[in-house]
Amino acid sequence: MLKISVRDQKNRVTEARLSQAMKEAAPVLARAQAGEARYADSQGWLNPDQWAGEAWLSQIERLAERVRQCSDVFVLIGVGGSNNAARSVIEALADGSGCEIIYAGNTLSPHALNKMLRSLEGKDYCIDCIAKNFETLEPGSSFRILREAMAKKYTPEEAARRTICTGTYGSSLEKLCQAEGYTFVPFPTDVGGRYSAFSFVGLLPMAVAGIDIRALVRGGKDMAEQLHREDAESNLALRYAALRNPYKQEGYTLEMLASFEPQFRWFNKWWVQLFGESEGKDGKGIFPVAGEYSEELHAVGQYLQDGAPLMFETFLDVEEPTDHLVIHPDGKQDYFDYLNGKDFWEINRAAFEATVTAHSGKMPCVLLKVGALDAYHFGQLFYFFQFACYLSGEILGINPFDQPGVEAYKSWMFKALGK
Ligand code: PA5
Repeated sequence: MLKISVRDQKNRVTEARLSQAMKEAAPVLARAQAGEARYADSQGWLNPDQWAGEAWLSQIERLAERVRQCSDVFVLIGVGGSNNAARSVIEALADGSGCEIIYAGNTLSPHALNKMLRSLEGKDYCIDCIAKNFETLEPGSSFRILREAMAKKYTPEEAARRTICTGTYGSSLEKLCQAEGYTFVPFPTDVGGRYSAFSFVGLLPMAVAGIDIRALVRGGKDMAEQLHREDAESNLALRYAALRNPYKQEGYTLEMLASFEPQFRWFNKWWVQLFGESEGKDGKGIFPVAGEYSEELHAVGQYLQDGAPLMFETFLDVEEPTDHLVIHPDGKQDYFDYLNGKDFWEINRAAFEATVTAHSGKMPCVLLKVGALDAYHFGQLFYFFQFACYLSGEILGINPFDQPGVEAYKSWMFKALGK
């Protein structure tokens, strides 16, 4: 289970103020727990059973098995919410028991795209174009070049058999699938990309990569049950959502999500997108950034400790050892003998404890304890942050499910490209 605590040597936001903030936000929690009609078209994720129930899971597993039987590689074509959840888990946990996953549809760089195409040479592959409305330039253009690559390698029937599309019912993508004989699977109409971990969008690529998607969904369901049961005084997501706002009032306009496990590298990206796209509206929102420690303590660590007091930190603190590696004496005079016999797990934890002690003198540090770094806990984290982001957006007074701001550059770009 996840647990939250705060380390703040200057007690910038007192426990009393936090309790008050939670009390004030109680109606937000009550509305979220009851389900809000005004968000009916965006809340298909609230109950993970809706798009990740038994029937869907069996369908996903069958399709994943078919892909694995005929492929070395699976190309995930998608950008933003259509890619981030799957990539977070695959990059953290894939152990080689499934297909290698290659990413496309997330860049317009010809260098990156050629590199991606070269990495497919000599391999058998299937592709999955994940696009909610199939108008986004990056996945649309990558899908074209991958269709061309497949046409050179496979017969039209074989290429069609190897092409999957995850789109909304009635979309141009579904029509293309019907015309060309591609496999079409649903992108939930009532779930936005960044909330889509518990659906075909996130789960099919994970299953192809050999991830235990049942454990992941179980983690999400357990967290959903907890957050819908806990009241305003004890609710874990409300606590996190409610404390962010007093911190912002104290001038902490950035939140740094930090961890000492590089396995969280792509999860950090998912989290940055979730909060950035959900909260950055109407001149409001906390700017989300992420840090991979201990490496970045040798970079932004200086700013965090001594620079402008702009940010508070949220640490993902994994409880169960991720691995073990002991340092042995080697008789050479390198002055590192104080490490003899120590396990890197213990050394990494010492660095973590030292960082929290140092940083909490400068800024509030939120510690989010995560039982273990496995599929079950990724499921917990996805649901926890999605629910907390929804509550936090509501407390801020913005709609956490739309993203009108990303349209501005698109209209200039489409004009330049003659769309
Ligand atoms: O979270 C979101 O809604 C966005 O990040 C989308 O996932 C992203 O823009 C990709 O959209 P689409 O799947 O329509 O190509």
